Amino acid sequence: MNPEFWQNRWQEKRIGFNQSEVNSLLIKYWSALNFPASSRVFVPLCGKSIDMVWLSAQGFDVVGVELVESAVQAFFAEQNIQPTIYQHAENTEIKCYQGELGDSEAKRTITLWVADIFALTSTDIGSIDAVYDKAALIALPADMRTQYSEQICLLSGTAPQLVITLHYDQSKKDGPPFSVSGEQVQQYYGNRYQITELAREPATIGSAPDLTVSEQVWLLSE
Ligand SMILES: C[S@@+](CC[C@H](N)C(=O)[O-])C[C@H]1O[C@@H](n2cnc3c(N)ncnc32)[C@H](O)[C@@H]1O
Repeated sequence: MNPEFWQNRWQEKRIGFNQSEVNSLLIKYWSALNFPASSRVFVPLCGKSIDMVWLSAQGFDVVGVELVESAVQAFFAEQNIQPTIYQHAENTEIKCYQGELGDSEAKRTITLWVADIFALTSTDIGSIDAVYDKAALIALPADMRTQYSEQICLLSGTAPQLVITLHYDQSKKDGPPFSVSGEQVQQYYGNRYQITELAREPATIGSAPDLTVSEQVWLLSE
């Protein structure tokens, strides 16, 4: 998946992955991570997901990374927030959009990096307490996922993760979203985390409505 693929998807508004409502599995299972409010949550490959607004409303500061700048601009525009935009000190291709969500009594910071996730360092991202991976691991083809999982661990310091995956017969459909099995989750993260399957539910993929798909929720903890 090259950057042009995603630039085109956003430009042509082929963003079926973007949900208009907060992901119900996030609402149901986030508490399994048991974090105090004001923790910092990392949302890799974040798009303009409204899940970040929900996380913010739960009292978390949110740090996202998204390749496509128009997605980040759309997020702030849709939330009626005027972000402050910073240029990365060393890499002219990286920008950081920052704003505040919530009312005056409970404001949380949201920081969205416009960057290839592989170009960022833990110094850029800062300290992270938890990771929410929805449609991120499964957005990447198999040959990128080991590098992705290593980068997530580098950036987050192996913070606990809630990961949502889809599993289906990959021979019946091209990704994204790609099928990721439990064995693959183990392969990517098993050497760093205890992996617990919290849920497995039937699901559908819009572009292949007849495919048998299960959606799985994983808790990765040390
Ligand atoms: C399937 S979408 C999921 C977006 C979001 N997590 C959601 O659930 O709505 C994957 C997103 O990752 C972004 N992306 C793909 N490769 C990336 C990379 N290497 N670095 C940062 N973002 C990337 C794409 O532009 C796209 O918005």
